Amino acid sequence: MDCARLWLGLLLPVVAALDFIYHHQGQMEAFLKNVAQNYSSVTHLHSIGKSVKGRNLWVLVVGRSPKEHRIGIPEFKYVANMHGDESVGRELLLHLIEYLVTSDGKDPEITNLINSTRIHIMPSMNPDGFEAVQKPDCFYNKGRHNSNYYDLNRNFPDAFEFNNVSRQPETVAVMKWLNTETFVLSANLHGGALVASYPFDNGVPATGTLYSRSLTPDDDVFQYLAHTYASRNPTMKERNPCKAKLESQSGIINGYFWYPLRGGMQDYNYIWAQCFEITLELSCCKYPRTEMLPSFWNNNKDSLIEYIKQVHIGVKGQVFDHNGTPLPNVIVEVQDRKHICPYRTNKFGEYYLLLLPGSYVIEVIVPGHDPHLTKVTIPSKSQNFSALKKDILLPFREQLDHIPESHLSCPMIPLYKDLQGHSAATKPSLFLFLVTLFHILFK
Ligand SMILES: *[C@@H]1O[C@H](CO)[C@@H](O)[C@H](O)[C@H]1NC(C)=O
Ligand SMILES: *[C@@H]1O[C@H](CO)[C@@H](O)[C@H](O)[C@H]1NC(C)=O
Ligand SMILES: *[C@@H]1O[C@H](CO)[C@@H](O)[C@H](O)[C@H]1NC(C)=O
Ligand SMILES: *[C@@H]1O[C@H](CO)[C@@H](O)[C@H](O)[C@H]1NC(C)=O
Ligand SMILES: [Zn+2]
Repeated sequence: MDCARLWLGLLLPVVAALDFIYHHQGQMEAFLKNVAQNYSSVTHLHSIGKSVKGRNLWVLVVGRSPKEHRIGIPEFKYVANMHGDESVGRELLLHLIEYLVTSDGKDPEITNLINSTRIHIMPSMNPDGFEAVQKPDCFYNKGRHNSNYYDLNRNFPDAFEFNNVSRQPETVAVMKWLNTETFVLSANLHGGALVASYPFDNGVPATGTLYSRSLTPDDDVFQYLAHTYASRNPTMKERNPCKAKLESQSGIINGYFWYPLRGGMQDYNYIWAQCFEITLELSCCKYPRTEMLPSFWNNNKDSLIEYIKQVHIGVKGQVFDHNGTPLPNVIVEVQDRKHICPYRTNKFGEYYLLLLPGSYVIEVIVPGHDPHLTKVTIPSKSQNFSALKKDILLPFREQLDHIPESHLSCPMIPLYKDLQGHSAATKPSLFLFLVTLFHILFK
């Protein structure tokens, strides 16, 4: 066994194990470039834009086809360090990268994961903030903000109220990036607490704010996702691990219930980018001592891997017309879980819907036609690295190639604004009403 491992080691690229230290921009770039070179067949390194001070916003993609999307392979992402002084996530993602590329071809689970998933990893969304930290500290530090002194997690458009802030280069880069890929699942890594928080971060009475929370129609899925992460992290699942006032149930919490915020990234992902995102608070201390890094890696490694696998829950497939041509931009949603900006097929006619086991009715909507309904049953146990596959053939005879442009855009203005006075229940019928209103208002 040991002999075989030694022998295998000789065939693989020489790997200098990544140190447990904080990597500054130059060291981080050197590491990422090394990985991209040594593991060129499964990685793709690119910059999605630049920070205020001109630092690259690096993303390393890991996958069997790292440079481009393949039909049926869902896109997953991790983003860390958007608050520059919250530094644990940044190092965890570098270690995750190393773990993925060095386990490929050796560990069957990781090999399967890389075969079935395209994993995008952004270790730092705010490199200027990280470099601006002068004295690493457990608490608030000026490195939180970008170089123009904006909090990037308050800088996105907000669906509930007007967020009149100057959109920062880092934010704009992420918004553009979200448009270039059909991301399905994501997490956003922070520090200063130990909890997995899920959308919404902002709200109106219609989403439940009268009850001090703000829930999405996919709340069961979000609770499950947050729990998947928290339950595998031995410190996060403790009660009150940071000795703060926060009362979380087994390490998960609704973002609004914790504290409402405007312009956050997770709500933006869910509402505008069709991507389910949760926020992971990974350390009580924002910038802990270097010696703590190995224990953070040990406590988060299983969670980080298990969370990526969740991109394979639910159902996926392509929508075709009666000639078998894939149809982009048609609405595919589950009845009773309508999104305020309806989720649509991508340019390959693909849809991905994250769902827990159970029976659902999928509604496909093409303008000028009645909704096309398809029943699906998601099986209860599927550790298959693939969601249930369900292609949908539409019976319509007419040409469908002209889906009006007005149906494609989801406006960047507050969408829930006019619903302040409505009932407080987060009931499916209410979401149907919201969607109907949306169509009337913005057609
Ligand atoms: C890449 O390979 C070079 C030499 O083959 C080695 O020095 C370097 O440490 C490797 N880096 C990584 C991240 O694998
Ligand atoms: C993963 O993909 C590689 C290359 O396509 C293939 O050789 C291998 O059998 C696959 N492994 C698993 C576990 O699916
Ligand atoms: C948005 O902010 C700018 C600059 O502070 C201000 O001039 C403008 O009036 C604001 N717009 C609205 C609609 O509040
Ligand atoms: C596993 O996924 C493949 C598609 O990747 C599918 O063909 C197969 O039926 C699935 N098996 C089970 C047991 O779900
Ligand atoms: Zn933060």
